[in-house]
Amino acid sequence: MLEARGAVCSLKEYHPPLGGRVGLRLDFNENTVGCSPRVLERMRQLQFDQLARYPERESVERQVATHLGVDPAGLLLTNGVDEAIHLVCETYLQPGDEVLIVVPTFSMYEIYAAATGAQVITLPAGPEFRYPTDAVLARISAHTRLIAIANPNNPTGTVVSRTDLLRILRAAPDAAVLADEAYFDFYGESLLAGVASSLNLFVARTFSKAYGLAGLRIGALAGNAAQMAMVRRVSSPYNVNAVALACLPEALADQEYVQQYVTEVRQGRERLEQELRSLKLRFWPSLANFVLVEIGERHDAFVRAMRERGILVRDRSRDPGCDGCVRISVGSNAQTDRLIVALREAVGTLSVTGVPA
Ligand SMILES: Cc1ncc(COP(=O)(O)O)c(C=O)c1O
Repeated sequence: MLEARGAVCSLKEYHPPLGGRVGLRLDFNENTVGCSPRVLERMRQLQFDQLARYPERESVERQVATHLGVDPAGLLLTNGVDEAIHLVCETYLQPGDEVLIVVPTFSMYEIYAAATGAQVITLPAGPEFRYPTDAVLARISAHTRLIAIANPNNPTGTVVSRTDLLRILRAAPDAAVLADEAYFDFYGESLLAGVASSLNLFVARTFSKAYGLAGLRIGALAGNAAQMAMVRRVSSPYNVNAVALACLPEALADQEYVQQYVTEVRQGRERLEQELRSLKLRFWPSLANFVLVEIGERHDAFVRAMRERGILVRDRSRDPGCDGCVRISVGSNAQTDRLIVALREAVGTLSVTGVPA
């Protein structure tokens, strides 16, 4: 009988709870108001032949490289950051290699890395979910081939300092260091400028979050041109579809739209954190478009109470170190108004008792 590879058979199944997402969707860190209207306008103008042809990535890739200020030879458009992670794993990992990740973090690092047969070593985050740089440095070995770091991290919203990232980069010259900057727009600091001069740094960006294009599946992976030439060998030449390629330049051109959304999210994050403080709930100050909150034992009931009020939030209590925690995404000002009303009610009716901030 045909059997999948052992590494695949032992993978955990990962099914994000996408079904029945009716309500204000503050559960997947998506953009909650949608993309720039210019993107939809462009989509409506697509002609038959643009869909009949295989997509051509290169010219849009050059535009994105210019926008990001990197060498086009060092940039690959990808089917979301998910594919960028997958390609890095496929390019550099083989059975026997070691991959370092600090948990809790985004699930796809472990899945794609483990699928290659590499050994995934998970280190726990430090107090307050701080990145344990010294522990990571101590664990780097001759077998370490990938260190994946979400910055800001999901689900905690915490960040790793530039100094610490550079220490890790220098300490592991034989490992790919993947800085996943999916939430960059809500944070503002980046390692992108360093990719050309570093032989082991990769930076991933997405258009799923601030740009509101999660459904189109488009992201970018940047690295040193010589390394990216290797990554390109693994990638499908048609990994990004024609609709995404046609729309992305419009999305990039409408920076005003993106900046307006980012401003509202930052304001909303501040307001949400202020509200959590006054409700005496513990949370972790976030630099992304979501906040992780400790609800305590009644986390299930809290998620239900929010759903009854038309707001979806994500239970993260099964993530390592996240017992009783729920992650709440932040959207526009008007949505934050709704969120705060629902939050007060839900907390009031459940008499949720998280650890005081
Ligand atoms: C840290 C992180 N990286 C990557 C992704 C996926 O991004 P994309 O939609 O570009 O595949 C997510 C989505 O939640 C994320 O949280």
